[in-house]
Amino acid sequence: MPTIYVNNKPYEVPAGQNLLQACLSLGFDIPYFCWHPALNSIGACRMCAVKQFKDENDTKGKIVMSCMTPANDGTRISIDDPEVLKFRKSVIEWLMINHPHDCPVCDEGGECHLQDMTLMAGHIYRRYRFKKRTHRNQDLGPFIKHEMNRCIQCYRCVRFYNDYAGGRDFGVFCWHDSVYFGRHKDGVLQSQFSGNLIEVCPTGVFTDKTFAGHFTRNWDLQTAPSICVHCGLGCNITPGERYGMLRRIRNRFNGQVNGYFLCDRGRFGYEFVNSDRRITKPLCRQTESRFEPASKDIVLEKISRVIKESKGVIGIGSPRASLESNYALRTLVGAERFFSGVSGAESETLSVLTDIFRDGPVPTASLHDVGMADAVFVLGEDVSNTAPMLELALRQSVLRKPAAIAEKMHIEPWNDMPFREAIGQEKGPLFIATCNGTPLDDVATGTYRAASDDLARLGLAVAHEIDAESPGAANLSKELHAIAKMIADDLKGAQRPVVISGTTCGSKSIIQAAANVAYALHKCGKKPQICFVAQCCNTIGLAMLAGKPLPQAVEAIESGSADTVIILENDIAPDIAERIFKAAKNIIAIDSLNNKTTEKAHFVLPAATFAESDGTFVNNEGRAQRFFKVFSRQGTFRTAGDGPGT
Ligand code: SF4
Ligand code: SF4
Ligand code: FES
Repeated sequence: MPTIYVNNKPYEVPAGQNLLQACLSLGFDIPYFCWHPALNSIGACRMCAVKQFKDENDTKGKIVMSCMTPANDGTRISIDDPEVLKFRKSVIEWLMINHPHDCPVCDEGGECHLQDMTLMAGHIYRRYRFKKRTHRNQDLGPFIKHEMNRCIQCYRCVRFYNDYAGGRDFGVFCWHDSVYFGRHKDGVLQSQFSGNLIEVCPTGVFTDKTFAGHFTRNWDLQTAPSICVHCGLGCNITPGERYGMLRRIRNRFNGQVNGYFLCDRGRFGYEFVNSDRRITKPLCRQTESRFEPASKDIVLEKISRVIKESKGVIGIGSPRASLESNYALRTLVGAERFFSGVSGAESETLSVLTDIFRDGPVPTASLHDVGMADAVFVLGEDVSNTAPMLELALRQSVLRKPAAIAEKMHIEPWNDMPFREAIGQEKGPLFIATCNGTPLDDVATGTYRAASDDLARLGLAVAHEIDAESPGAANLSKELHAIAKMIADDLKGAQRPVVISGTTCGSKSIIQAAANVAYALHKCGKKPQICFVAQCCNTIGLAMLAGKPLPQAVEAIESGSADTVIILENDIAPDIAERIFKAAKNIIAIDSLNNKTTEKAHFVLPAATFAESDGTFVNNEGRAQRFFKVFSRQGTFRTAGDGPGT
């Protein structure tokens, strides 16, 4: 590890970092704007200046940008040299010249990087007396507010949106002191990662429009560590509540999962917690069309009588309910009478998938691992739709192999602009074999479109190319054979290959074929990882509880071996629901929102959402993650994860 000298004291730092990153990790305060740990350095703002000395005898030194200077062994710097303090003070003064100083009405106020850095750099008095340059703001759609006058030209937004997330409808326009960040004209931002502009921008140019609709200051929000419920990746989030209303969701850093970012679905998809359709009282059916609210005690007493008198009770669990809630239901009805609540096809693919997790020799890949992969084969899954943050990780993975070009030129990966210029248009390898086109096709080195059976055949062919003992696909066309060989060669030539698949096609063969590719790589001495996309936030947790498939629940009811069904947080597919409702004598639904299933139940119990309860979700890689109650909602039933209680 290199040793650097900060204010004449030695410190060991990890190799391959720049001085800013190294000093911030050591706990030093250096103001900065354009550097971002995920976006690296471009040296645009000049705020992170420090003084660098040649050696211990050098008393003069020179001012350098710490984000653009490698933390090499023996590097000597001063962070608080008077000359450097003066330099930083003048930089913030000129960056603030056109800033409107409208903190009291700015949604960013109180959690603003610009406020913090301005104070840190000592700019407390405004000397500029002239007219400020002003901009027209844009309507960027329902999620993001735009206030361009607050911009300090750090370029983080455009670097995230275009370079990191692959967006195409955002840019930087004009020149001099009129540089403008936005769209070429008003319109909804197209990237499904647009919400990250809110957190990436160090000022209040981009703020959360959904939050503005029920705004409260950051310090008035009650928060707790939580997990996103909108797909199976388990991104870490911080929801914020005030006065019984969920106000917003922000990223919570987890280096192995979502890092610094979230997708828009995860960030903005929280209003269901505040919805008018929330079930807030226990309900008993009185007539075909009418429910009567009743006290918790009365309803629970009625339900326990129904259960005691019934011929048998079965439980239908849910991939969107916590592990604890599903387990409590399974304990109540017994493992033999617990059904997983997912379709027959999904249940079968999940059982193949859990066998692979349990018995296969290949480890699962985290989102971070996917981002670091130097060759990826996606088989049968449009990840942009089913697991958005996986798309963001794959957009980083295509830079890994070309990084060797920059390495040969001795360009550090954190030195963003020369790094990107060195690798130019080089990408990959990333091969995407799916039923339809995907938003990731623009960075793929190859694509193949076919029906799911043919995708599985391609997977088998790739595995066979890597390992001749792996079963191949019969009657392979010349074209498919050539594609399979190309993919196999790329994967074999990689240091960190990853195979991605998922359950969306409902095809066991695709899952098995993807596993075969990973196994074949493992057999030939590679260190592959496998990544399966699961549909809901706790699909894998539910699969691990090994409930029987939903069609068997219908059989149990229709055969008369049970006449009472408890349905946990699950709006059952209409065809199955119809048969269950027809045959069951008593239906007890537990859910947070009104839906077709609760409408037909005999008893409805209000469930707490993720924001109102504690629990555990198991994500697509098999990672169990706890979420914690942000606030209590009057009337809802706590989940099992809350400990003793209802
Ligand atoms: S809009 Fe924000 S992120 Fe973009 S350049 Fe301006 S200050 Fe930086
Ligand atoms: S990728 Fe999935 S888990 Fe992550 S923020 Fe988006 S919806 Fe939530
Ligand atoms: S953070 Fe170093 S120049 Fe902007």
